[in-house]
Amino acid sequence: MTDRPKILVTQKVPDPAYPLLEAIGDVEANLVEGTIWPYEELLQRGPGHDYIYCLLTDNIDAGFVEACATATPRLKMVANMAVGYNNIDVAAATRLGIAVSNTPGVLSDTTADLAFGLLMATARRIPEAERFLRASKYKGWGPLLFCGAEVHHSTLGLIGAGRIGKIVAKRASGFEMKVLYYDVYRMSPEEEAQYNVTYMPMDDVLRESDFISVHTPYMPSTHHLMSEREFALMKPTAILINTARGPIVDEKALVKALQAKKIAGAGLDVLENEPAVEPELLAMENVVLLPHIASASLKTRTLMATMASDNIVAHYHGRRPPNIVNPEVL
Ligand code: GLV
Repeated sequence: MTDRPKILVTQKVPDPAYPLLEAIGDVEANLVEGTIWPYEELLQRGPGHDYIYCLLTDNIDAGFVEACATATPRLKMVANMAVGYNNIDVAAATRLGIAVSNTPGVLSDTTADLAFGLLMATARRIPEAERFLRASKYKGWGPLLFCGAEVHHSTLGLIGAGRIGKIVAKRASGFEMKVLYYDVYRMSPEEEAQYNVTYMPMDDVLRESDFISVHTPYMPSTHHLMSEREFALMKPTAILINTARGPIVDEKALVKALQAKKIAGAGLDVLENEPAVEPELLAMENVVLLPHIASASLKTRTLMATMASDNIVAHYHGRRPPNIVNPEVL
């Protein structure tokens, strides 16, 4: 590439990401913090850029990549500042020879911390108890006041035990929890020993766990992975934690399972139709809801932001982007 490439950054990201891009190209950026361009605007602005730096809330679908692939300059790469890339039609990008990258690894510990925090908050009813106190309802210590579920020495079931799930298992070991897991990829016996986890078929993990924590990527095969049948298998005292992607959990079925007391509670950092919240969930005290903040520490978000830039810079210099998800295009 002889000319300076044109780079579009679709949302305001941590500052260190920009100079890396400005060193190689002309950057057009949405700098208004908290704003997301609607799809129509993205479609109008995207074509004519060599690189698109995007976020998980940007819908990079087949129509978008096709429009960018037929414009001048032609789109070369989409760098997602997220580990999950279900917002991008990777098959369409690959068909058009467009590289796609993500930001794995740097957010695993931070996400596992939040998953564990959500587990603690839901089990011990921390947000509910705080709401009670702030509403001036606290009239004194009570033997039954906000009795919740025990975390230590309980059984945690991981549905998905990749980078993040494994670290959640490490967090759980400090609480002397028994950790079961199901994943389409079974760990080696050495890794199972290292993380002190026991593999079981998914239904058995659901039946035996006090907490179920979801850590799979979102893809057609994990859509509504947790639905009516799965909730029916869980213990009536069990709590569901989801820090992965909203649509892995069938929210309507979750509401029904909670209403019918098939399970005891849920802690959700991700929602099926973000940012919309299922009204029934909002009304439930045994549900803790967060606005998709699992990787949200400034340090981690800065690492993710610079990683996305590094992928673009590597591609520009003719090097393999370190976090390319479709290397077949190179
Ligand atoms: C956050 O949800 C991510 O995928 O990075």
